[in-house]
Amino acid sequence: MTDSVPTPQATVTVEATVNGDDRSATVPADTLLSAFLRESLSLTGTHRGCESGKCGACTVLLDGEPVKSCNLLAAQVTERSVTTVEGLTDGTDLHPVQSAFWDTHGLQCGYCTPGFLTSTVALLREEPDPDVETIREWFAGNVCRCTGYTKIVESVQVAAERLREGDGEPATDGGVDPDSGSWAGAGNTDVGVFDATYPVADEEGDGE
Ligand code: FES
Ligand code: FES
Repeated sequence: MTDSVPTPQATVTVEATVNGDDRSATVPADTLLSAFLRESLSLTGTHRGCESGKCGACTVLLDGEPVKSCNLLAAQVTERSVTTVEGLTDGTDLHPVQSAFWDTHGLQCGYCTPGFLTSTVALLREEPDPDVETIREWFAGNVCRCTGYTKIVESVQVAAERLREGDGEPATDGGVDPDSGSWAGAGNTDVGVFDATYPVADEEGDGE
């Protein structure tokens, strides 16, 4: 009888731009993007909930478009640009979407919030003046267990108004850098598309 020999685990070196910085780490080849961000890069603002693509807590921007980071392998973002909730700010001031959620009480426990924030940034880049129905449809892939969604929708509307107004100048873009997703003031015109595939909250906003 021979001793079994452990099979070496395949690894991959992931090199990507994360929140504007070149980041690199060698991880097991089956590492999810959510785990890579949290454990290899210590970006714990990206939350893990269902880990099956259903709750949206792990949403980040990939080349400016919202994706669920539990649905991607870290290896898939090599040579691409990832923006997490930490990257929405310039390090000092909150992104206008963040401040709108704060001011409008668009969160309670906050577990879902990073996903809603990154999703909102992408929505407002595509549609600077979304109506309530559009907002609710967009968030079909983001689940909140606390708020009943009403305050989240209001937060998005406040953010949209602030971004449209900019510094007194009409903004057409959501004011977000198209590559990084970071707040960059008015002037960008790039858009992102979120292929949300989850049930839309009902008119009472309780998702039931
Ligand atoms: S943790 Fe990724 S969608 Fe729920
Ligand atoms: S604020 Fe608690 S899950 Fe959304």
